[in-house]
Amino acid sequence: MSGVFVVFEGIDGVGKTTVCASVAEMLRARGLEVAITAEPTHEGIGAFIRSGAAGDVSQRTEALLFVADRNDHTERIARDVEAGRVVLCDRYFASTVAYQSAKLDGDSTDRDWLISINSDFTGRADATILLDMDPLDSLNRVGSRGEEVSKFENLGFLEQVRDNYLLLAEMFGFHVIDASKGREDVLKDVMAVIDRLV
Ligand code: TMP
Repeated sequence: MSGVFVVFEGIDGVGKTTVCASVAEMLRARGLEVAITAEPTHEGIGAFIRSGAAGDVSQRTEALLFVADRNDHTERIARDVEAGRVVLCDRYFASTVAYQSAKLDGDSTDRDWLISINSDFTGRADATILLDMDPLDSLNRVGSRGEEVSKFENLGFLEQVRDNYLLLAEMFGFHVIDASKGREDVLKDVMAVIDRLV
């Protein structure tokens, strides 16, 4: 049996990681084999990105690094799907388009170019779930977790990222879920999408 590939997207602090973990728990309880994965990955190029070792590079270079990481990651995802697993992926190509096409310190990259550099290295997800929330609320969540605020986590920037995501949702048919609702309600909406696939 072939597996299923589901992607979770959304701005920082929206709860993707928690939702992924809860969905995995529910699916495993039904006897399904689940693989949770994320981008940037924690190996190779992904680990390099996360380390910050690339330094102060342009948005285009940053985008190319995310896509290089995605190329190897996509091969691993395909193997898991072939082995019959449900793959839950925390961020995928839409993150590159939504984040790297938003303006940071005056630097922003063309959306069509970002879509085109992804096209050869991206697998087709069975569903992409966009957890949508006002950045004011998501930033409060990040702050209340006591996490360090990254360069991507300022309000104006995240407002652009959110708008980019909503546009991509229309272009690519993502499932948009209101993530400002309570945890149980969000999970119910997410499972309604996943139940159609598994
Ligand atoms: P994380 O907080 O979900 O681990 O993601 C790390 C940051 O990397 C997050 O702020 C979003 C950003 N990012 C991009 O800018 N482009 C990408 O392609 C990916 C995968 C992540």
